[in-house]
Amino acid sequence: MTARIVVVGSANLDLVVAAPALPRPGETVLGGEFTTVPGGKGANQAVAAARAGGHVGFVGAVGDDDFARPQRDNLVAAGVDVSRLRTVPGPSGVALIAVDEQAENLIVVAPGANAALTDLSAEDLTAVAGADVLLCQLEIPVETVAQAAAAGTFTVLNAAPARQLPAGVLSTVDLLVVNEGEAEVLAQAGDLLDLVPRVVTTLGARGAAYADRAGLRLEVAAPKVRAVDTTAAGDAFTGALAVAWAEGRPVEEAVRWACAAGAVCATRPGASSSLPTRAEIEAAL
Ligand code: RIB
Repeated sequence: MTARIVVVGSANLDLVVAAPALPRPGETVLGGEFTTVPGGKGANQAVAAARAGGHVGFVGAVGDDDFARPQRDNLVAAGVDVSRLRTVPGPSGVALIAVDEQAENLIVVAPGANAALTDLSAEDLTAVAGADVLLCQLEIPVETVAQAAAAGTFTVLNAAPARQLPAGVLSTVDLLVVNEGEAEVLAQAGDLLDLVPRVVTTLGARGAAYADRAGLRLEVAAPKVRAVDTTAAGDAFTGALAVAWAEGRPVEEAVRWACAAGAVCATRPGASSSLPTRAEIEAAL
């Protein structure tokens, strides 16, 4: 059975520079090579899910500038349905990214068109309602996430970048994916399992942990890899997890699969360009 995934989320063009070390506040460092690559947590997760074997639709927004074309082309090349991708007046989303020699990154996002992804249309909501899994992140207005989740489709929220959420938004989430920092921010509002029924916490190179209200707890180790760039590793993880979940795989297998996707992604530079295929995920296990 092919997993049907709809992503309601962001698309950015990533402006990336390699640097020997990430700058401290107020510091200038001399970097190396500069590249532009399609990115954005929403678009990355859509591409990740498509490469992992899902049938994926993307609801998002790009601007009417020169940065829009590579983002749209990248989604199309991955086989993502872009019929619900809007073009809005103004600039596209942009992410300024520095990556150091330890594969760590520093990212600042200018949301641009992503901020205009509001008021989902009847057609957008029909697409969401027809999916097995709705996948959202927090680079678009939170009201839009809430509107999409209200369609009743099983909702996976990757709460990145971290921010406090209005009460009510988390009550519509079926599975929350967070890293340890994001978990800390959300836990200020209470125990995560009081807020959502299932939580996956990514632990970087260590793997991931799963917990649910039924009392299931498990931790999965990630395959050992030589990381060169961890940008989008969380997106690879979440996109693959959504596919495995929609395919009805057992929880431990789904989380293990997602860890393998994140690990492979970290071995390659860039965002969208580094997301693994289904065969590469299988090979890493
Ligand atoms: O998760 C990585 C992504 O975060 C980058 O592609 C960048 O666009 C930001 O959204």
